[in-house]
Amino acid sequence: MLAIEADALRRTYTSRTGWPRSRRTETEAVRGVTFEVKPGELFGLLGPNGAGKTTTIKMLNTLLLPTSGTARVFGHDVARDPVAVRHRIGYVFGGDRGLYDRLSALDNLRYFAELYGVGARDQKRRIAELLDLVGLVGREKERVEGYSRGMRQRLHIARGLLHHPDVLFLDEPSIGVDPVAARDLRRTVADLAAAGTTVLLTTHYMAEADELCDRIAVIAGGRIRALGTPGSLKSRVGDRDVLDIEAYGAGDEVIDRVRRVPGVRGASVEDRGAMQTVSVQTDRGAELHAPVLAAFDGVRLGRVVSREPSLEDAYIAIVEEAAGSAAPEEVPA
Ligand SMILES: Nc1ncnc2c1ncn2[C@@H]1O[C@H](COP(=O)(O)OP(=O)(O)O)[C@@H](O)[C@H]1O
Ligand SMILES: [Mg+2]
Repeated sequence: MLAIEADALRRTYTSRTGWPRSRRTETEAVRGVTFEVKPGELFGLLGPNGAGKTTTIKMLNTLLLPTSGTARVFGHDVARDPVAVRHRIGYVFGGDRGLYDRLSALDNLRYFAELYGVGARDQKRRIAELLDLVGLVGREKERVEGYSRGMRQRLHIARGLLHHPDVLFLDEPSIGVDPVAARDLRRTVADLAAAGTTVLLTTHYMAEADELCDRIAVIAGGRIRALGTPGSLKSRVGDRDVLDIEAYGAGDEVIDRVRRVPGVRGASVEDRGAMQTVSVQTDRGAELHAPVLAAFDGVRLGRVVSREPSLEDAYIAIVEEAAGSAAPEEVPA
């Protein structure tokens, strides 16, 4: 039996905006999403902000009803049998809320264990196991208010696992967590999956998805744009080379000019303070150094490095293609 089956899931939000005369606005957050996750698989939903990741998770964990389509968790329909689904799942949303700051980690877990109906006999052992899994042994008696973001996030994961769920939903677990803590967090998630829990993870960090996930669905504008192993996604850009160019003050018009150079397949910009790194994808072997640099037309440049494409480049290519076809629209209703 499959752990998760999502079949043509759609979700539209209706909200009121405008003053003095308000009008109804409909946002198609998720527009027909289909995928399957096998038991024990670590599956990633990867996409930019607003792609529909959280909305998809909320339909799968019964917090939101689908507008149309169906989903099942270990065979239980999320709309018809939400109680059975809830017994099988745990979820953790990124961010700070949901823990009691004035209590210790241990007391937080005891409290939630009571709330989730974990039997008194099982509680002590389960909490000790989870503290070990998330690497908080020795710190469990400290108040949560003194915890770092990463420690809180690991405590959240322990909370989400108290009732032995078969599936754990992790929505942007590493948001706002520093790099070292994020690495610990990834190890926790990997351990969890190795122990047999099915994990559905959302992230907009490519490297995180690459390291952790068995398979990834890239979602943008409410639709799945690509689905496969990290390796198969990478092979989509196997026919390209990438030039990383350090630039100072390259505006949108410059980047557009770079994109229009024949043989250039895409360009993305990452701001690092005063400096930008512009990654330009070109056809493999096209030797476009000269025309690409010329397109910067007077912008001050630093180092220029040529390299093989990474999963991040594959992701950028997929998301840019999606942006070229259809962005999420807001249609007045
Ligand atoms: N409660 C809501 N009401 C109206 N629009 C919403 C609501 N929640 C999310 N949206 C919109 O739905 C789209 C998808 O959002 P979301 O699922 O949160 O994306 P992601 O988690 O990938 O960032 C976005 O355009 C967002 O603005
Ligand atoms: Mg989200």
